[in-house]
Amino acid sequence: MASIKVALLGFGTVGEGIYRILNERKEEIKREMGCTIDIVSILVRDKEKERLATPGTKITDDIQEILLNPDIDLIFEAIVGEEPAYTFLSDAIEKGFHIITANKTMFAKHGPALLKHAEFRGVYVGYEATTAGGIPIIRTVTNLLPTDRVLRIRGILNGTSNFILTKMREEGIPFKAALHEAQTLGYAEADPTDDISGKDAFRKLMILSALAFGTQPNWQDVSVVGIDKITIEDVADASKAKLRYRHVADILIDEKGTLHGSVGPVLIGTHHSLYGVEGVDNAIIVETDYLGALTLVGPGAGMYPTASAMVGDFLQMIGKREKVLVNS
Ligand SMILES: NC(=O)c1ccc[n+]([C@@H]2O[C@H](COP(=O)([O-])OP(=O)(O)OC[C@H]3O[C@@H](n4cnc5c(N)ncnc54)[C@H](OP(=O)(O)O)[C@@H]3O)[C@@H](O)[C@H]2O)c1
Repeated sequence: MASIKVALLGFGTVGEGIYRILNERKEEIKREMGCTIDIVSILVRDKEKERLATPGTKITDDIQEILLNPDIDLIFEAIVGEEPAYTFLSDAIEKGFHIITANKTMFAKHGPALLKHAEFRGVYVGYEATTAGGIPIIRTVTNLLPTDRVLRIRGILNGTSNFILTKMREEGIPFKAALHEAQTLGYAEADPTDDISGKDAFRKLMILSALAFGTQPNWQDVSVVGIDKITIEDVADASKAKLRYRHVADILIDEKGTLHGSVGPVLIGTHHSLYGVEGVDNAIIVETDYLGALTLVGPGAGMYPTASAMVGDFLQMIGKREKVLVNS
């Protein structure tokens, strides 16, 4: 039976999730796809750190051990930040590896260049997990695009912000206490700046813009406001008026073809499809010429939702490119 050999860059929340799913679903993958998947190497920063046992898989802190291994077909990237991730993936594409990434910080800025490079080299780039975790928004928009035209995409793209706004309203607690709860439950990063400032939602919006409209607006033209200035009084006043604060990232194209993007808190009425989206969930409304409005709601982060989006990319790619990939 054919064997596909992969490497993981990063073995934190997401990397471990990929490892677990590929092992837990080994038999189903074998049966459905007609191949086995071997996780050959895992790249980490600190080899000495105690982590899940990975028998038969080499743990390394040297990217060259992966990039120079001719047996490896594909790289899953789940490390943090713009660099060295961008350099690792550029080098991987240049060497002919297929890549799948969850790294939104890197992909918002460098995604268009990576996609162009990959097209030139004839390799696959999967990035479903960069935007809204487990919600298949990249696949949905990609599938719509050949026949339809996206007019607007907006939604709740940061689960931590939505969790904080939900807690402030439901429990009447101030912003700082709700943020602390998000951190205690592991929803917010140790440094939650990007979540609460709107930067994280902005990056995902730019990834969606590049996909849906083939381009991004100038970043400095997009107003980005976080939730950190919303007070408990603001939330209570909104509730009295049967309104809810939602942190909404919004991009639309006008009749002249100009993009208009914004990220910030918005007051939402009871009939709006974002009104009932609570806690850490994400939600995205896609408006197109033919379909009208489609709303997708689901988990925007977490080990299994994010890793399952990446494995989904992988299985889709194997389905399409089995002949190119396999080493018999
Ligand atoms: N967590 C989520 O729910 C989620 C959702 C969507 C997207 N993402 C994205 O997925 C990526 C991974 O997130 P995560 O939550 O899994 O992060 P994490 O738990 O902090 O894990 C990061 C992993 O990357 C490794 N690493 C970091 N910098 C490295 C470097 N320079 N060289 C080699 N290895 C390096 C770390 O090694 P050590 O273990 O040795 O420290 C660690 O194993 C991020 O880009 C994040 O934005 C995460």
